[in-house]
Amino acid sequence: MNKKMKIGIDKMAFATTNNYIDLRELAKVRGDEPDKYTIGIGQDQQAVVPPTQDIVTLGAAAADKLLTSEDRQRISTVILATESGIDNSKASAIYVKHLLGLSDFVRTVELKEACYSATAGIQFARGIVALNPQETVLVIAADIARYGLSTPGEVTQGAGAVAMLISQDPHVLALGQTSVSLTKDIMDFWRPLYATEAMVDGKYSTNVYIDFFKQTLTRYQQLTGRRLDDFTAILFHLPFTKMGKKALEAVLGERNDATAQRLRQALTASQVYSRQVGNLYTGSLYLGLMSYLQNGAVKAGDRLGLFSYGSGAEGEFYTGVVQPAFAANLSNVQSDLKKRQQVSIEDYEIAFNDQLGMNSADIQFDLSNDPAKFVLAGQKNHQRIYQRNDK
Ligand code: HMG
Repeated sequence: MNKKMKIGIDKMAFATTNNYIDLRELAKVRGDEPDKYTIGIGQDQQAVVPPTQDIVTLGAAAADKLLTSEDRQRISTVILATESGIDNSKASAIYVKHLLGLSDFVRTVELKEACYSATAGIQFARGIVALNPQETVLVIAADIARYGLSTPGEVTQGAGAVAMLISQDPHVLALGQTSVSLTKDIMDFWRPLYATEAMVDGKYSTNVYIDFFKQTLTRYQQLTGRRLDDFTAILFHLPFTKMGKKALEAVLGERNDATAQRLRQALTASQVYSRQVGNLYTGSLYLGLMSYLQNGAVKAGDRLGLFSYGSGAEGEFYTGVVQPAFAANLSNVQSDLKKRQQVSIEDYEIAFNDQLGMNSADIQFDLSNDPAKFVLAGQKNHQRIYQRNDK
């Protein structure tokens, strides 16, 4: 690979569902203090998923926002990173490729490792582009975070997808050469094949997350000689926004100098969208990146640190440099979030229980309440039926 070739994120777009709940209302119904949710956990709203939405429809919606006809010609590979798979064999990327109308001459694959896999997707895409600089890779991070009604994890649910084009001469973020990955066999969060909700050792998972962040950051610093002062921001996987604060404070300690203040302000800017959507699992780090780029004091040339974490567990610390045209190559997340409708806790619970899940029966969903461009219309003969919704 030509060492001078810049490879990275060329464009980014986000999609979530049309409905959300206010977490203060959920707190009241669950008998909790609203401040526990909004301050203690750091979440204000949560995406509500109708049965007509899943990782395929969300992933297609995000990707559809960023593809020009020229992009469509250049895409050689579609990588869909998820832990909310809809089939144990067939890659969800194939359905997405079909909904997007991409050429049949593309490679399509699904990746899994909890909330980490989109980062693996980006690193694999980077390898493809390094070998074939004329190619573009579409990486989609799509998930539905489900813990169950009235569980401690409920307040940290969420849903959505971030789509990214990885190419040479990227417009958003040029990736740094050095990255540090760390993998250990740890049972902090998992979902057996027979379960539709995650199993989690919540407090333990937050400690493992912080430990992985410290270990990967320290090793990165040893390898590169860079210090915290060299970063304008450190972006985190945000299962709930307080998690990023816990991790950042674990390395800042008592520091309150210019670097510490800058990193704390950057963290706040990166949390704006996650606060309104919830955990996207593997897309959360990248929604945080979009949030920072659209709400932070960002300029071209800034070096960002990114910490990716997936339970099980795997972490990676890597970096990127902001490119001059970043602002024009991001979808308008705030405007999309404003278009959503708030629903009652009762309606959220109905939607939660209406998911297709493990149901094997034929079913046709009522599409009248879902304005999304791509919908899951139902299931027939054990096959999911997706369609474009042109109303
Ligand atoms: P919990 O037991 O309900 O909450 O579970 P708590 O009692 O620990 O309270 C949470 C915070 O609210 C505490 O602050 C309280 O002090 C505070 P902290 O000590 O943590 O700083 N609090 C209040 N603050 C203000 N006013 C009040 C008030 N009351 C309490 N009145 C837990 C919390 C996060 C464990 C739970 O929600 C959970 O299990 N979530 C799911 C697991 C998770 O998100 N883990 C994160 C790390 S693992 C990860 O990121 C990977 C993951 O995304 C999955 C994947 O990789 O695929 C999860």
